[in-house]
Amino acid sequence: MYGNTSDRKRLTVPDLVAMKRDGERIAMMTAYDASFADALDAAGMDAILVGDSLGMVVQGHSTTLPVTMDDIVYHCSHVARGEVNPVLIGDLPFLAFRDEASALVNAGRLLAEGGMAMVKLEGGGPVVAMTARLVAAGIPVCGHLGLTPQSVHGLGGFRVQGREKAAAEALLADARALEAAGASLLVLEAIPDALAERVSGALAIPTIGIGAGAACDGQVLVLQDALGLGDGPRPRFVRDFLADGGSIRGALEAYVAAVKDGSYPAASESYG
Ligand code: KIV
Repeated sequence: MYGNTSDRKRLTVPDLVAMKRDGERIAMMTAYDASFADALDAAGMDAILVGDSLGMVVQGHSTTLPVTMDDIVYHCSHVARGEVNPVLIGDLPFLAFRDEASALVNAGRLLAEGGMAMVKLEGGGPVVAMTARLVAAGIPVCGHLGLTPQSVHGLGGFRVQGREKAAAEALLADARALEAAGASLLVLEAIPDALAERVSGALAIPTIGIGAGAACDGQVLVLQDALGLGDGPRPRFVRDFLADGGSIRGALEAYVAAVKDGSYPAASESYG
């Protein structure tokens, strides 16, 4: 059930960077267990993120802040157990990278215990130096700018970022700095599509958007959102792929196809 039965090539971090160079969009989604890791692989996903969104969609919290390193390592190890082909990315949770020493130890756990190939850290500024430190230790890094949910209280809620000129310029500067520090991938969350397009054009590394428009080099969605789970108001960028996909497999394949052909997200699913 969970074994790697597909004949796909196992993807690497450099493969993702090459996809941007070759003009192929990157399809990424979150997963937190072996069954869905296997399903995402079978659907042709390029990367799987074990996000700290698990605090909300698996554990039922209202933010990602309560998620611990042990929680993330637990879910990473389940996702990695099936030896799936997409690049596996583990999120460093709140306060797991408050200084370079803890960032190194905790990122090391995600690779050594969790079986991940890459770690994701939210933020710019001081995170740039930590990125350089991790990369120097042989740990591939994915940055995350824009709406950074671990800063939800400081941001005043889950709000679109980078609308004002100064904020947009600061985000672009952070993006360039993260790339210079050695990051191989950059998630852009909830920013105007024009800003995401500027950032994507300025960097050689791929940008992965979530609520950042179709000009990003790839897209990521939270699995439960893509399957239409949960009630309450949905962010504008969330599309229920199960509604038309007919089955979980169909929904995941529809997501991969829509990312690859650029039809997801539509303009109405972006922040102008
Ligand atoms: O935790 C997560 O799932 C994420 C994505 C929303 C990018 O960070």
